[in-house]
Amino acid sequence: MPVTTIAWIDHKVRLIDQTKLPTDLVYLDIDEVETLGEAIKKLRVRGAPALGVAGAFGVLLGLQKFHDEEKAKFFLELQRVVTYLRGTRPTAVNLAWALERMQRIAEAHREQPLAQIKNALFAEANKIFVEDQQTCRAIGRHGAALIPDPATIITHCNTGALATADFGTALGVAFTAHAQGKKLHIIVDETRPLLQGARLNMWELLQENIPCTLICDNMAAFVMQRRKIDCCLVGADRIARNGDTANKIGTYSLAVNAQKHGVPFYVVAPVSTIDFNIASGQEIPIEERAAEEITEGFGRRTAPFNVEVYNPAFDVTPNDLITAIITEAGAIRPPYAQNLSKLQPQPREPRHTGV
Ligand code: MRU
Repeated sequence: MPVTTIAWIDHKVRLIDQTKLPTDLVYLDIDEVETLGEAIKKLRVRGAPALGVAGAFGVLLGLQKFHDEEKAKFFLELQRVVTYLRGTRPTAVNLAWALERMQRIAEAHREQPLAQIKNALFAEANKIFVEDQQTCRAIGRHGAALIPDPATIITHCNTGALATADFGTALGVAFTAHAQGKKLHIIVDETRPLLQGARLNMWELLQENIPCTLICDNMAAFVMQRRKIDCCLVGADRIARNGDTANKIGTYSLAVNAQKHGVPFYVVAPVSTIDFNIASGQEIPIEERAAEEITEGFGRRTAPFNVEVYNPAFDVTPNDLITAIITEAGAIRPPYAQNLSKLQPQPREPRHTGV
């Protein structure tokens, strides 16, 4: 069973504080939207699919206190909570996607008593959680079919159980192939500056007993030159209609290196990470984070004071560097503009199920 990184328990959001890993496994029980917002900003909970689940649970947190006679206030607060949470991390589209789903459900039940609207929101949040679990498993199956036996794989940033409601996306592919008996060796980029690879992937891979080797991000090209790498597996925070993919900073360099060395480069993500509203990666908002993450990450000053710093948390890999995008609907290959459009969900009629 993969570790549960986020859950709704006793009217609170329980999550693993990922900033404390790999040394301490600490759970937080959160009962305020602002505390959840802080946890998202500080990357206590992170990874695009997990952020979607966090957003849905955040709406429950913010609205559970309202009673029947307060419907007008309830809808005002819903708007405030959605706007606030959407602003906590701008690149991972799953957060905005889940918040929109929650808002749509509330609107579809607007004419009903507040208790029913709250029930419908609870059901939707739970659905988002369960769907992510099923999605991870389907992605794992489709992805594992592309992994040779034996295989040496390079991965970047954490895309495992800590980043989703189940065993992950890119790392989920590795977990599935491993469970099928394939002999894997995972080369883990440390993922500067916040070390999601070193701290989180290594922690997860060790637990699953999958052979793995940690490298600094800037070693990937040399590793590809010196040993046979079968593929790269990375996640995504937002994929444009044309397949351009935003993922953790350093992903683009890895893709360039992979092309140079003839290594297949797979992006692994749920369909919910595809933003059908944007045509290309140019339109993806890129989060910039505090200078201190680079100048004094993990408590030690590593640059002079007052230096100018640029700290984008994500980059955009152009679609021509991506061999395939592995989703729960299968592995999508170029031309992406044409083939991804087949996955676009059709607009649904508003539901009035009165859950
Ligand atoms: O800043 P983070 O740690 O939230 O960035 C996470 C990533 O870039 C992951 O690769 C992506 O969200 C996919 S997680 C399955």
